[in-house]
Amino acid sequence: MLTGEDFSARGPAAAIDCLRALQKERGYISDETLAEAAAILQMPVAVLDEVATFYNLIFREPVGKNVILLCDSAVCWMLGREALQSRIFERLGIAPGETTADGQYTLLPVVCLGACDRAPVLLVGETLHGHLDAAGVNKLLDGAA
Ligand code: FES
Repeated sequence: MLTGEDFSARGPAAAIDCLRALQKERGYISDETLAEAAAILQMPVAVLDEVATFYNLIFREPVGKNVILLCDSAVCWMLGREALQSRIFERLGIAPGETTADGQYTLLPVVCLGACDRAPVLLVGETLHGHLDAAGVNKLLDGAA
């Protein structure tokens, strides 16, 4: 178990580790969790909120069990990102920013995931899926990818 001293000794970068650990346990970073983390890190809540808001993988609102982060940047757009979004909508009935009624999936747009050579890409959990097309989305959602 990390202590506040551990985090403060590692500087601001430790904030992400702390938030990710809390998010893994609680699903997202509520205002209460953010305040708790700020106390652990000995940081102002507003500063930590900026970090949390900037970092794509920290969720400040409740999300589904599986979060699909669909790259929304130029290379993915040029190489078929829209087809992925359309197939996700056909299969799950959710648009960017929405969660399925059963709470299984949330679809979120994100800026470049740093894998442009594999565009179009999406991230589910911590797994990056690249060179996807609509059929690939089907396989992914069927659990076969
Ligand atoms: S533009 Fe999509 S990964 Fe870079």
